[in-house]
Amino acid sequence: MSFDRSIKIAPSILSADFANFGAECEAIEAQGADWVHVDVMDGHFVPNITFGPATCAAIRPHIKTVMDVHLMIAPVDPYIEAFAKAGADIITAHVEAGPHIHRTVQAIRGAGAKAGVALNPGTPASAVAELLDMVDLVCVMTVNPGFGGQKFIDMTAKVRELRDMIGDRPIHIEIDGGVDPTTAPLVAAAGADVLVAGSAVFRGGSVTDPAPYGANIRAIRAAAEA
Ligand code: DX5
Ligand code: ZN
Repeated sequence: MSFDRSIKIAPSILSADFANFGAECEAIEAQGADWVHVDVMDGHFVPNITFGPATCAAIRPHIKTVMDVHLMIAPVDPYIEAFAKAGADIITAHVEAGPHIHRTVQAIRGAGAKAGVALNPGTPASAVAELLDMVDLVCVMTVNPGFGGQKFIDMTAKVRELRDMIGDRPIHIEIDGGVDPTTAPLVAAAGADVLVAGSAVFRGGSVTDPAPYGANIRAIRAAAEA
């Protein structure tokens, strides 16, 4: 994975057909997705359950780009090895998920993956200040995690602050939650480069009719780059 700050659209398969993940991953990539965002939820850290490392391993052969695994689980550390073995390129853990995020980030990199840290809307940018020399991505949640299709919470000031803190370091700023052609320009202008979008990408399409995925991806990208 090479680093650059161009806009990357990362559809979240949380909004895909759960009975058809492989075909959905192939469809969104064929329609222009830059990364594939994989939301893992445990019913404990967040009030919803999705899937675990076995599903990640099963979909891996269907992803040619970047498998971006967002762990909304607590504890995190006992499962890092399993998600790395499943083929995650990036593993993102929440700073709120436990008392030892520094150890978690070390463990993610130690397992051979790129390391991301995620911040809930109620958590300040300063929570990652001591981690900036050891992470590859900071994810700014623009919803409280747990569900797709929620309303965007404006975290533009936090994104700007992080962009300043990051300086020249090769760290992606990812936005997750409520991203669509209306909200994408706000966060892109503030310095974000990876835009996760679930409902705004999958709306109107299916694996048998994937063209709307492409139109949706292009609309978000065009708005962000404008
Ligand atoms: C929320 C997840 C997001 C979510 C985004 O807990 O982390 O990735 O699927 O979905 P939309 O784009 O529908 O808000
Ligand atoms: Zn996510």
